[in-house]
Amino acid sequence: MVNFSGKKRVLTGITTSGTPHLGNYVGAIRPAILASRSESNDAYFFLADYHALIKTQNPHLVHQSTLEVAATWLALGLDPEKVTFYRQSDIPEIQELTWFLSCMTAKGLMNRAHAYKHAVQGNLDNGDDEDFGINMGLFGYPILMAADILMFNAHEVPVGQDQVQHVEMARDIAQRFNHKFGEYFVLPKAGVDKDVSLLRGLDGRKMSKTYNNTIPLFLSEKQLKKFINKIKTNLLEPGERKDPDSSAVFQIWRAFASRQQTLEMREKFDRGIGWGEAKKQLCHLINTELQLPRERYYKFLENPERVESILIEGADKARAESKRMIEKLRDAVGIRPLS
Ligand code: TRP
Repeated sequence: MVNFSGKKRVLTGITTSGTPHLGNYVGAIRPAILASRSESNDAYFFLADYHALIKTQNPHLVHQSTLEVAATWLALGLDPEKVTFYRQSDIPEIQELTWFLSCMTAKGLMNRAHAYKHAVQGNLDNGDDEDFGINMGLFGYPILMAADILMFNAHEVPVGQDQVQHVEMARDIAQRFNHKFGEYFVLPKAGVDKDVSLLRGLDGRKMSKTYNNTIPLFLSEKQLKKFINKIKTNLLEPGERKDPDSSAVFQIWRAFASRQQTLEMREKFDRGIGWGEAKKQLCHLINTELQLPRERYYKFLENPERVESILIEGADKARAESKRMIEKLRDAVGIRPLS
């Protein structure tokens, strides 16, 4: 099934449970905004605030993060005229679709979801009950995500490597629905940028809110320097050869550098650049890319009314479609007027 426009629809969401960090930027936001500028794409980007409730019950955090995430995308050049940019919770049809899909999804499929399995394993490792602290939102998380994707018939879903399984589950669920009721859904594919999609954090593990090892996206230059200085390195002295491929400093460099700059840094590692110097250059590189967006970001934060009205307009556009879609789907499953 192709959209009316004949364009490829790309759709992605960011959970509003924290302050956007470099990992979000490199893995999701930057490639998504780039893709949205291509004439052959029709982009749908949204704030996943329903998903946020799975992770936090702190209302202030959810609310503040929603503003920060929206301001981030706008500051980084998302054009709300060109992209359909909305907040998940402004589209009530998503909840209804989540229910339809829940009734079509094998519990066993959800048992295999990484995020859930990881939580269970953590409990067992701690000697706790396997269900300890696990809410039904976490268990059904991939179904809500499938509803986000399938509602708007996305062809491609740009995500980090850790979300690929969820997109594949959305595809499975769509297939199952189509098989039963007819060809209603496009089968989505994950779009992953293999090179840089999983940025490493301060401790060398994947950069993630969960590990508390992130570098926030819009730090002042001074704070950025502080964070970068905290990236874990080894005890090798200046002049000693360093291995770029096991270094978080190099890996983050590569995510911001041109091909040429990456080659040059590889050589510098080989020649034994000192960690202090490598970090200084990294700080400069990141700051150059983020300086202007940072100024725009703080302007949006000071003007939440403007952000709100952009989101409401986006929701109007999106709902024109989701209302039509949910009517078709209700009819398909047998929920329709009696006469
Ligand atoms: N679960 C995703 C994350 O944590 C965010 C998300 C929610 C999403 N719904 C989506 C991403 C639909 C892509 C498509 O990163």
